[in-house]
Amino acid sequence: MLWLKAFHVIFMVTWFAGLFYLPRLFVYHASASDGQTRATFKVMERKLLVMCHIGAALTILFGTLMLVLWPAFLQLGWMHAKLLLVAGLIGYHVWCARLVGQFARDENQRSHLWFRWFNEVPVLFLIAIVLLAILKPF
Ligand code: HEM
Repeated sequence: MLWLKAFHVIFMVTWFAGLFYLPRLFVYHASASDGQTRATFKVMERKLLVMCHIGAALTILFGTLMLVLWPAFLQLGWMHAKLLLVAGLIGYHVWCARLVGQFARDENQRSHLWFRWFNEVPVLFLIAIVLLAILKPF
């Protein structure tokens, strides 16, 4: 159990490193005007998205393994709330992946200011999910 939990947390950190840095790249990419700079951002975003996918897949894999081995967690209210928030987080991740595609095709219409706000969303998910997982309030 502790090994699974340790790897769950390790890959969660990998996933969040990507979810924090990817929208930050969008902020700079949205204000970049020359072709060479944009091309560099496209490569960075594509590679970071791969890292994000790996982090997400392995966090979910180790989390799901724990639930399969200890299904009693599924009876607890905080776990229901956590899984609901994780579903929202996966939605955010998918949105980021679509934005990478839009930037790659030079189709982005959003301002760097919009991405600055977008960048704050994963902070809220991180705080809420970690508080639920550690404090287990209900
Ligand atoms: C489908 C996705 C996920 C599943 C199925 C899952 C499931 C689990 C399970 C069963 C545990 C063990 C709970 C315990 O020992 O009390 C756990 C622990 C934990 N999870 Fe997740 N989790 C998922 C996603 C996440 C995400 C996205 C985060 C962070 C944002 C996260 C953060 C944590 C933390 C910090 C712990 C350690 C809690 C402790 O030791 O008290 N999990 N998770």
